[in-house]
Parts: sequence; C-alpha cells; structure tokens
Amino acid sequence: MPHSVSDQPSPWVARFLALVPAGGRILDLAAGGGRHTRLARARGFAATAVDVDVAALADLRADRAVEILACDLEGAGWPLGDRRFAGVVVTNYLHRPALPRIVAAVAEGGALIYETFAEGNAAFGKPSNPNFLLKPGELLDAVRGELTVVAYEHGKVEAPRPAVIQRIAAVRAQFAAIPRPSS
Ligand SMILES: C[S@@+](CC[C@H](N)C(=O)[O-])C[C@H]1O[C@@H](n2cnc3c(N)ncnc32)[C@H](O)[C@@H]1O
Repeated sequence: MPHSVSDQPSPWVARFLALVPAGGRILDLAAGGGRHTRLARARGFAATAVDVDVAALADLRADRAVEILACDLEGAGWPLGDRRFAGVVVTNYLHRPALPRIVAAVAEGGALIYETFAEGNAAFGKPSNPNFLLKPGELLDAVRGELTVVAYEHGKVEAPRPAVIQRIAAVRAQFAAIPRPSS
C-alpha cells in the first residue's frame, strides 16, 4: 500500500459502516491488506475483497465469509458484472472511469463509503498525479441522482499523515440515520 501508512481502519469507514444493513456483504475495492475487509468481518458482514494483488489477503482465505477476487479494475470491462452489495468501500484508490460502476454496485438500501486523496495533496506527498486525485465535489457529482449523501468532507487532515482528502458516505435510500462519530 504505497500511499497508506496505516493498517488501522479509516475512522470514516469505521463510522459510516453503520449505514450498511446488518449482515450484508461489503465490497472492499482495491482492498490492499484488507483493513476494511477485516473491519467488516469484525462487524458481522460478509466481504468481497478485490485487488489486482491479493497476496496480502492470503490469511483471509480461511474465512468462508470472505471472497477474494484477483481483478484488474483498470482493464477492459468491469470485473464484477451486475453484482450489487449492501456496502461498497473504497479507500486510497481512484480510477475515474470506474466511478459509475462503483456507484451502481450499491444495492437498494445499501451504502457507499469512499475516501481518497484530493487535489492539493501534492504539497504533502504522494499521490501527486492528478489522475489519482479527486477534484472538488467529484464524489458528490459521482453519486448525484443515484444516492443520497449522508456525509461529505473535503480538506486537509493531519492523520494518519498530512494529506488533502475527500470522503463521502451515501445511501441508496431516501435517507438514513446519521451514525455517531464514535461508532
Ligand atoms: C494505496 S492502496 C489502498 C489499499 C486499501 N484500500 C486501503 O486503503 O488500505 C491501493 C490499492 O489499489 C490496488 N490497485 C492498484 N491498481 C489496481 C488495479 N488496476 N486493479 C485492482 N487493484 C488495484 C493496489 O494493489 C493497492 O492494494
């Protein structure tokens, strides 16, 4: 995970995972070491972890509620077909052309939780390539007309290291209870 210095779950994901219907399946896209797959399992969700390199997920193979898919999310075609998930989690990863498919993968009543680097991050380190940096409001634009935004932030954070990030939690429902910051 070249752009992450933490194996701890993102506090944003930890908070907004409460939006996902209990017992559903979480799609952890570009899962890396699987920190959010592990969190999802600890919260009682099944999980599908997708990454082009699944080596760091090997220990999760013993868990029958975890599906591990070695897929190139940037190749021809979307590897998940029409599958829908109760929760879709994406952190520290951006492949712009996949955004519509990511939003479409959220099942009725389900939630999208997305957090990654944004324009301005180059001042603090990598990623600095504009292809990997969200533009202001880009996640809002991605869900507009599809999902209801529960929370959205864009700005500089200090932890786990100084960075400019953007994050969203949104549901395929009219509204949802807003999870408390500590949950
Ligand atoms: C910075 S890491 C983030 C990992 C995880 N989401 C997290 O926040 O802990 C980016 C991940 O994207 C994966 N990745 C990069 N290009 C990919 C591709 N074309 N298809 C699937 N996964 C890819 C990498 O293998 C890596 O695990």
